[in-house]
Amino acid sequence: NYYAILMAGGIGSRFWPVSTTEFPKQFHDMLGTGETLIQKTFNRLSRIIPEENILILTHERYKDLVLEQLPRANPGQILLEPAMRNTAPCILYASMKIQKENPDAVILVAPSDHWIEQEEEFTAEVRHCFDTCAKKNILMTLGIAPTFPNTGYGYIQYDASSGEDDGIKKVMKFTEKPTYETAKEFLEKGNYLWNAGIFIWSVKSILEAFRNFQPDMYQLFLKGNNKYNTLAERTFIRKNYQKAENISIDYAILERSDNIHVLPADFDWNDLGTWGSLYEKLPKDNAGNAVVNARTLMEDAGNNMIRTTGKKLVVIDGLDDYIVVEKKKVLLIYPKQKEQNIKEILQKVKQKF
Ligand code: GDD
Ligand code: MG
Repeated sequence: NYYAILMAGGIGSRFWPVSTTEFPKQFHDMLGTGETLIQKTFNRLSRIIPEENILILTHERYKDLVLEQLPRANPGQILLEPAMRNTAPCILYASMKIQKENPDAVILVAPSDHWIEQEEEFTAEVRHCFDTCAKKNILMTLGIAPTFPNTGYGYIQYDASSGEDDGIKKVMKFTEKPTYETAKEFLEKGNYLWNAGIFIWSVKSILEAFRNFQPDMYQLFLKGNNKYNTLAERTFIRKNYQKAENISIDYAILERSDNIHVLPADFDWNDLGTWGSLYEKLPKDNAGNAVVNARTLMEDAGNNMIRTTGKKLVVIDGLDDYIVVEKKKVLLIYPKQKEQNIKEILQKVKQKF
């Protein structure tokens, strides 16, 4: 009864110039390990879930990339979105299709672009959530102990007195992407976790939540009452998908429901959202430089994040705490401290060039 919805339709714009709309970060070997992030994720999930039950949700334009990178996936497992509408429509669409196949399904919803170190811990915790959600009508997420007021995450306030028997805490309030000030307050209070963006729930519970909190979206997808990847279904989706509201699951469901529970996770997690977060996870030389796919000669250079295509020779002197990334026609040399601005820089670049 176990299924996965693997979300692989985001763009990863803060990883420009490596991650682009044509070739987003989940399809890159960001860590230099020989596997792309989506390949790593698929392998991780296939230890827990039968491979044929892992549905890959992505935009139409990435179909060939998925087929090429996940040769073990059957084309019927890839559900294509004709428009980018964020994660809520994609999860609802996939959940309705899963329900048609198996009304007792329990689903893991997972991003395709995260780094997880202790795979055994991850597996054990997901199994624990699967067991719980097979019995209880609750919506679950995995929580990460926060280390700084990151404004790019969802924050979970949990009831510290709950979950003595099974470790699963009742969520009091979910706040998606708070301001810096609010995030700081949350950290000071203590009973907060980061949302890892990895969810577990029964297909019944999540469809009920959509019916309650997103009735329009629910009715929209209910009309496409066909089996997935039939011609009728593809025609319906092509015509109707873009009518769905552009909203993430966090705003659409998690902030609204009072039925959320969290399992504090014990594995090391990083959402590889920016060059700096990738830098943290890479091996470094004595001066703290992380180098992927490049040969280097460096003097008086420390704490830099360096990556090239084609193993270029990079010579640096007198540079500290920078991102130096080269891809085809773009060379980015940018202070690591300002990495959150890369999204906006990309917009400017698009306007100008
Ligand atoms: N199929 C599909 N379609 N996938 C999508 C779409 C879409 O339209 N939009 C995003 N995704 C995928 C991304 O590729 C990524 O794997 C995942 O869904 C999450 O989307 P992000 O855009 O990366 O979300 P976020 O990082 O801003 O926030 C989420 O993740 C944080 C942890 O990394 C939220 O769940 C936060 O609460 C959470 O803390
Ligand atoms: Mg993300």
